[in-house]
Amino acid sequence: MAKKYLTAGLTKLVTARPIIIITTLHQTGIVNAGTFGAYTNLSPTEIGIAIGRPSHTYQNIKRTGELVINVVTRSLAKAAEICGEEIPPSESELEKAGLSVEPASLVKVPLIRECVANIECRWEKEMVIGYHSLVVARCLAGWIEKDFLSENGNLDVVKAGAIFNIGYPRPLYAVLANPFLVE
Ligand SMILES: Cc1cc2nc3c(=O)[nH]c(=O)nc-3n(C[C@H](O)[C@H](O)[C@H](O)COP(=O)(O)O)c2cc1C
Repeated sequence: MAKKYLTAGLTKLVTARPIIIITTLHQTGIVNAGTFGAYTNLSPTEIGIAIGRPSHTYQNIKRTGELVINVVTRSLAKAAEICGEEIPPSESELEKAGLSVEPASLVKVPLIRECVANIECRWEKEMVIGYHSLVVARCLAGWIEKDFLSENGNLDVVKAGAIFNIGYPRPLYAVLANPFLVE
């Protein structure tokens, strides 16, 4: 894959909100990976994600202040399911899921190489809502696979085959098809 590096327009990489895998760093240096679907773009540079507070993802974000958002496509659906399981911090979810990493530019947390888009983020603020916390992530830099760049710099979610969970907690997914413009 050949990725283009971006420093602006970063929330365009998750415009239609496909599921994401968030990578974070455990204290040991092992990379943690968790799957998330409950998120939204809040501003051109901020994404709000509802993250269960007992999760490793949440705890790592609180300790390090850093996270990377990685967009999931069809061939990575099984990997996303594996990253959605509770796996002890001593084990690498990425290894179990058959995923590899590459360095980020501005944060210590690595990107998932196989993902078509990645956003490097820093914790900005949060609001506790019951079991979850709505974590507001400040987007610092991003990467997008050049083949899936749309005309306006978005991730072309249709062409990329980005996936949506349509029956959580069932492992039922769909891709978007037949986009049309309203004249
Ligand atoms: C498709 C999918 C979507 C999910 N969305 C969320 C979500 O939005 N928020 C959340 O707290 N957990 C969500 N989960 C559950 C987490 O992935 C799960 O709690 C996981 O164990 C977290 O990993 P961690 O402990 O390594 O952070 C989702 C799981 C799947 C498979």
